[in-house]
Amino acid sequence: MKLPYESLRSARWFAPDDFRSFGHRSRVLQMGYGYEDWVGKPVIAIVNTWSDANQCHAHFKQRVEDVKRGVLQAGGFPLELPAISLSESMVKPTTMLYRNFLAMETEELLRSHPVDGAVLMGGCDKTTPGLTMGAMSMGIPFIYLPAGPMLRGNWKGRVLGSGSDAFKYWDERRAGRLPEQAWREMEAGIARSHGTCMTMGTAATMMGIAEAVGLTLPGASSIPAADANHIRMSADCGRRIVEMVWEDLRPAKLLTRASFENGIACAMAMGCSTNAIIHLIAMSRRAGHPVSLDDFDAASRRVPVIANIRPSGDAYLMEDFFYAGGLRAMLERIRPHLKTGALTVNGRTLGENIAGAEVYHEDVIRPLDRPIYAEGALAVLRGNLAPDGVVIKPSACEPRLLRHTGRALVFDDYPSLKQAVDDPDLDVTGDDILVLRNAGPLGAGMPEWGMLPIPTKLLKQGVRDMLRLSDARMSGTSYGGCLLHCAPEAAIGGPLALVRTGDRITVDVPARSIRLEIGDEEMAARRAAWTPAPPRYERGYGWMFGRHIKQANEGCDFDFLETGFGKPVPEPDI
Ligand code: FES
Ligand code: MG
Repeated sequence: MKLPYESLRSARWFAPDDFRSFGHRSRVLQMGYGYEDWVGKPVIAIVNTWSDANQCHAHFKQRVEDVKRGVLQAGGFPLELPAISLSESMVKPTTMLYRNFLAMETEELLRSHPVDGAVLMGGCDKTTPGLTMGAMSMGIPFIYLPAGPMLRGNWKGRVLGSGSDAFKYWDERRAGRLPEQAWREMEAGIARSHGTCMTMGTAATMMGIAEAVGLTLPGASSIPAADANHIRMSADCGRRIVEMVWEDLRPAKLLTRASFENGIACAMAMGCSTNAIIHLIAMSRRAGHPVSLDDFDAASRRVPVIANIRPSGDAYLMEDFFYAGGLRAMLERIRPHLKTGALTVNGRTLGENIAGAEVYHEDVIRPLDRPIYAEGALAVLRGNLAPDGVVIKPSACEPRLLRHTGRALVFDDYPSLKQAVDDPDLDVTGDDILVLRNAGPLGAGMPEWGMLPIPTKLLKQGVRDMLRLSDARMSGTSYGGCLLHCAPEAAIGGPLALVRTGDRITVDVPARSIRLEIGDEEMAARRAAWTPAPPRYERGYGWMFGRHIKQANEGCDFDFLETGFGKPVPEPDI
């Protein structure tokens, strides 16, 4: 079924014989477009997160032209609309502060302009959730175009993975085993092309999830940024979105709870970044099909990790994953765990899109009976210290830590932690539990501080992992016994705020529990004595953020952006 032109949104701008439309038409002509360029055609927004400050999206300057080529071929009229770029490695204090900003920007860009459909260009960590959350709330047909991973890193013939290997070798450097010259050489070898981090960090995780949820063309998320397939896929997105507009294939028709359950199953099999939890919860709530921490925990007991990609895997990177068959092949392997009837942007089901996809390298994408981890991509623990959950990636931590009681060593902020870890006289052992608080959504915008550095003194003794607890996130490329997203966070008076150095904490991952070993009375007395810190921001965006940010277990969206907050936003009057 093809919609009549008059029913398109953009026709409300351009078709009427009235004064406002005269203005809209004359201004399109002002840009040099003739009537044959746009009359009667769907207008396609291309929301582009390119910027000179985002290394991961450097190729978007060219790719946007490829998307336009596709749109034109299919009889649409493309309009590029730039949006905030959110480079994970450049933006301070943390891109997490701005994910919802991008979501708001995307929603309002699409709402306020005469557009009928959209191609969303993102990839660097927060851009996938930011763009898709906004577009889901707006509701017009859209396709997500993932930036794709960069090429493998290389140093003296050794393969280097974004983040993961930097962390690993930094510990070697702090232990005094890596000279400056070598460190400099690595700096020049670890990021060799445009594209996102090529470990299974947040970027690769979220691009893969977007595909499993049905928001990309089949296979799109695995194509390396520098591969010519990526250029052709960009043009494919342009052609397909024009058809989607005529078919009126809106997110509300596409997305169901099954779509998000597929996102979760995919995340587990990939050995995903812990950040996937926050973002996928936020995305699902925008779509009106909320998933929860319990859905992740249940899926992690069911779906094995089969993608052998660092940091959960030991050897390979996203480039290898592509050569091994990519996400389609991985999803075909976990078909029994998928809702294969879920619809995707190409108008076919996920099951149809992955049918027959082959694995070309059995060690990169493992068979279900020879997984990296039979279970445990993620686990959600609860207890008196984290009534609303704390998250750990058991697959990326030393097994001895999965059942452990240790003495808490507590830090109220990152600078004091940073100073302490280099102190040779620090009173600490590898059995202690480092605690960082006031680093949650309200406390600090929830930066990636959750992989607390192991004290130098312990590194020199050979300790390479220990339990670390915080209300922060950690980079998807991080690893180790890190207990993250502790909720409620310390800044709003969660129990984490009440822990004292010397307290004992018991962690039992198989039992999914975390306990501060003090009595209820002591806990109540400490709570009564607790006072909140003054607000971090007293004006501007940060002020608004502080008033509206929700907790990690709810996806860290702004309350007023969530679906169901007030009546739906009306279409703009002309
Ligand atoms: Fe962009 Fe890692 S810095 S994906
Ligand atoms: Mg990251």
